[in-house]
Amino acid sequence: MIPATLFVCSLCRFSATEKSRGGLSGGQYFINQLQTELAARNLQDTVHLQPVRCMAACSRPCNVTLGAPDRLTFILSGLSTTESATELVEFCQQYTTYPGGRVPFKERSAVIRAASAFILPALPAPN
Ligand code: FES
Repeated sequence: MIPATLFVCSLCRFSATEKSRGGLSGGQYFINQLQTELAARNLQDTVHLQPVRCMAACSRPCNVTLGAPDRLTFILSGLSTTESATELVEFCQQYTTYPGGRVPFKERSAVIRAASAFILPALPAPN
């Protein structure tokens, strides 16, 4: 598996259909769920979870970006903070195993397909 970074907006709110939990922001609640899921799959050392403060897509919480050197970058938007941690961690696991992070569309869950806002090519390696 190739190490990857999962950026998650810690400030995203819960969606209109989700109830606030424990006084946390939706993004922070999601981060906590993701930490648990990563540990359950023993991925905590492969997928680096990096909270960020706003990704400028506040109207479509929750927003995350998955990337790694020489791999595609996936920008996902509108993920449920309470119901999509399992699917997102599963996708992270797929991403770390497929060459170039090119997880075939048919291999992605419906949650990931629906949340995929942008997929960027790998940045060229510096000379
Ligand atoms: S608060 Fe999450 S994108 Fe702005």
